[in-house]
Amino acid sequence: MEYYEIDGGIPLRGEYEVRGAKNAALPILAATLCKGGIHEIYGCPEIGDVHTMIEILRSLGAAVEWSGDCICVDSRFLTGTAVPPQLMSQLRSSVFLLGSLLARTEEAVICRPGGCRIGSRPIDIHIAGLQRLGFDVREEGELVAAAGRCRGGRIRLAYPSVGATENLMMAALSGSGYTVLENCAAEPEIEDLQGFLRSCGYRVYGAGTSCIHIEGGRGLHDAMYFIMGDRIETATYMMALAGTGGDGILTGTQSVYVSAVTEVLERMGAQIKNHEDRIQVTCRGRLKSPGTVITQPYPGFPTDCQPQLMSLVTCAEGTATIREEIFENRFTHKKDLMKMGANIETCGKNAIIKGVGSLRGCPVRALDLRGGAALVLAGLMAEGTSLVRGIEHIERGYEDFAGGIRKLGGNIEKKITETKKTDESADETADSDSGNRGGRSFSGITPV
Ligand code: EPZ
Repeated sequence: MEYYEIDGGIPLRGEYEVRGAKNAALPILAATLCKGGIHEIYGCPEIGDVHTMIEILRSLGAAVEWSGDCICVDSRFLTGTAVPPQLMSQLRSSVFLLGSLLARTEEAVICRPGGCRIGSRPIDIHIAGLQRLGFDVREEGELVAAAGRCRGGRIRLAYPSVGATENLMMAALSGSGYTVLENCAAEPEIEDLQGFLRSCGYRVYGAGTSCIHIEGGRGLHDAMYFIMGDRIETATYMMALAGTGGDGILTGTQSVYVSAVTEVLERMGAQIKNHEDRIQVTCRGRLKSPGTVITQPYPGFPTDCQPQLMSLVTCAEGTATIREEIFENRFTHKKDLMKMGANIETCGKNAIIKGVGSLRGCPVRALDLRGGAALVLAGLMAEGTSLVRGIEHIERGYEDFAGGIRKLGGNIEKKITETKKTDESADETADSDSGNRGGRSFSGITPV
């Protein structure tokens, strides 16, 4: 079993170059199937979820090579339109294959990704949107089969779901209709997906706003595309610098995409300086509580930064309230933060955190991606040594997290132990963005 050993209390200093955005790379890799061709994607992070997505593309007949900074996808010859269940259940982002396969082959069979710790994460908005665009969608047990082509039209999403927005953008490329999606999510990763689709020659407009226009029709070009910097990784490192009283510079990122996080950190007393694609974070003295922070769709405070912020405010002066409005169960990190000495009370969507003088290092376990990052931040802030287990969850979404922290002077090592897992139950639950790792037996429609 692998774990991180962290000696806390060291202010992080230095410079770190942010990797490519996980939540842009995953839909864009799925989108390489929309138009058969040889597509080059640069800047993908070397993380578990990207490797799983590559396996899914290969299972459908695409040839995928990862050399250096480039993932080359040859999607000219697909051999199937059903995502293998055992891969589907490993990655929630596999749901994007619905849209990209419909755009290319006008049919797709996926398995409903398993539920996960941060919430039930249904795909009803995806399915309702496909049906309203004219696709025939059948649900049998865990499987969802869709077929047909987009007839175009104007539809409104019941909620600005990031994944549903991206899925419907891709599905609307099929046929020759003109589609307008309203009440879309406006996350920057959606603009990145639009950028990739445009580089294939598709006509898609409006991503980054609540209204996106898509012209159905065949893509024209093989694409060469560079993924944006990861704004959630940026924010995670910003909070690590602030939480350890450090002074560091993050490069390869866009400050505009983390403005909600910047505003909260400045409220807490950190100094943030932005220069083009570099962000400097300096923090001297004890942080102050930011008051109340509510997670919201972009450009609001991102839910993917809520766990990390909770770690930060555990030692801030005063009482903070964090309200999680996006996912119904995203306080899984509370238990271990309290084990480290934090004072946290939760009630429904709200967490009330009373600042304590310091945290004490101890063994903890990551249960999902961002909750795991929060425990690493807490270990860096704590007095003494922390052992963070369950790091496979963290390495699904952060490339070489320990190496990045070490680059900033943090004392963190990845270690391996032969001891049997002491807390099996904690590993049975699925991760924040993956399906049920225990896998499920799928009944109903047999994948082709
Ligand atoms: C994307 O997930 C991100 N993942 C998540 O990041 C992120 O937390 C989330 O958007 C919100 O910003 C990727 O982009 C790969 P949603 P997604 O659909 O698309 C409900 C991380 O840590 N909903 O916007 O699954 C849903 O249950 C991950 O990097 C429905 O009810 O998020 C949730 O409560 C975690 N029905 C809310 O909407 C649906 O059909 C937001 O979900 C779809 C969603």
